[in-house]
Amino acid sequence: MNLTECRIIDLPKINDPRGNLTFIEGGRHVPFEIKRVYYLYDVPGGAERGGHAHRALHQLIIAMSGSFDVILKDGTRQQRFHLNRSYSGLLICPMIWREIDNFSSGSVCMVLASNYYAESDYYRDYDEFLKAKNL
Ligand code: TYD
Repeated sequence: MNLTECRIIDLPKINDPRGNLTFIEGGRHVPFEIKRVYYLYDVPGGAERGGHAHRALHQLIIAMSGSFDVILKDGTRQQRFHLNRSYSGLLICPMIWREIDNFSSGSVCMVLASNYYAESDYYRDYDEFLKAKNL
């Protein structure tokens, strides 16, 4: 898996003067069935999250409120994505290292995941991650 397989997905948006609506259907708008949803909030200024990769997990990251940056690394290349729309998400494939920083005040980072939480699915050491990718 490399960076070219990660991309921004534009989600359906129903514009309405009463307020906009976005919906996400597993297997349709995201290329996996959604088994877990979690979110980061009350993130203090200057904090960094992530700093790991997953062996098999697929994820979609959405800035539900505010903004933040996601830095993706495949061991060869790296790319920074600025997320600030609640109708677009960043698709992250397995075996991609991610770091999240530059959180705006009050931001909420929601993550849709293809599987339940399992610590055994994580690479938390960058050198171990590179080794697993034969780099
Ligand atoms: P972690 O995935 O390292 O957070 P982030 O990538 O956002 O910096 O998880 C932080 C802690 O929360 C860690 O102890 C595992 C726990 N956790 C769960 O128990 N369930 C979950 O679904 C997630 C994502 C984390």
